[in-house]
Amino acid sequence: MYPLTATITGVGHYVPEQKLTNTDLEKMVDTSDEWITSRTGIRERRILDEGLGTSFMALKSLESILHNKGLDARDIDLIIVATITPDMVFPSSACLVQDQIGATNAWAFDLSAACSGFLYALMVGGQFIETGAHKRVVVIGADKMSSITDYTDRDTCVLFGDGAGAVLLEPGEPGLGLKDFILYSDGSGVKYLRQPAGGSLLPASRETVEKKMHYIYQDGREVFKFAVPKMAEVSAQILERNGLVGKDIALFVPHQANKRIIDACVKRTDIPEDRVVVNIDRYANTSAATIPIGLSEAAEQSRLNRGDNVLLASAGAGYTWGSTLLTWAY
Ligand code: UT7
Repeated sequence: MYPLTATITGVGHYVPEQKLTNTDLEKMVDTSDEWITSRTGIRERRILDEGLGTSFMALKSLESILHNKGLDARDIDLIIVATITPDMVFPSSACLVQDQIGATNAWAFDLSAACSGFLYALMVGGQFIETGAHKRVVVIGADKMSSITDYTDRDTCVLFGDGAGAVLLEPGEPGLGLKDFILYSDGSGVKYLRQPAGGSLLPASRETVEKKMHYIYQDGREVFKFAVPKMAEVSAQILERNGLVGKDIALFVPHQANKRIIDACVKRTDIPEDRVVVNIDRYANTSAATIPIGLSEAAEQSRLNRGDNVLLASAGAGYTWGSTLLTWAY
């Protein structure tokens, strides 16, 4: 379509040091390590200190890319932060990152698509490279889920954690880079997963606080019933339309919401298990950050080589879901 291909040329991530283990949660709510591990695959999650917001983690993940690439922040043209837990309603966390990193030549905005936020932002950012409008676009997925989690609600508090991951997009060589994407939305899913208050519909009030409406509300069973088939189908769909089968994929980086959802996806696509990134045991569900953290750790562990087919997939609130196929470039 366009003469240029958007290519990931750098990855970085940041997770807070503080761990919240299943054993810790056993002391906070009526749960058990056995229940959490067997139902979700989660063993522990990271929690960002009070007084720090999502932009702090986003900044750290971007700093590591600039450091590794020897790049100056002034070389960045655009910063997109995918998040549902911005530091504040406005201005965007992307603007805070832009200021703190000193990216004085970049424009910046946030994008909200919950657990699919990184995939949505990757595709949006990629367009600016492919049209030739920009040379360096940074896409960050970052969420401080602990800031909207009710640690007295066992249905949700075991599931989420904090973290951030970032990628740098640049024009690449033909045959490498972003190849294909399929993204979906179905807003009828709002009733099953949302943060009810704090927006324009239900601004913060004594009543919304007393009713705990600023925390995540989730009907886990309904979301599970949606996520399993949708993430598996969209992963299979992108393989099929690109003439690929599971064994052609060198690395699969799925969203990390539940190990059983990941397993269903792997079964449907027939991707060999040793090529699947799983870090839900250590980080739980960090929403928009799961996929870029997974990519960044895989790169650190030398699990990615030039020319590799890489598949990304997600499903989450909205509903939003999708898949992305790319060829690793370095
Ligand atoms: O990324 C955003 C998208 N979110 C997701 O993809 C999450 C999708 N949903 C899930 O991953 C799963 O539905 C959960 C992990 C949230 C729940 O697992 P489940 O196997 O669907 O359990 P359930 O909701 O059917 O609950 C089974 C039982 C219930 O007890 P009863 O009603 O059978 O007596 C729950 O009350 O487990 C109980 N339960 C717990 N027990 C111990 C729920 N949470 C806990 C807990 N510890 N933390």
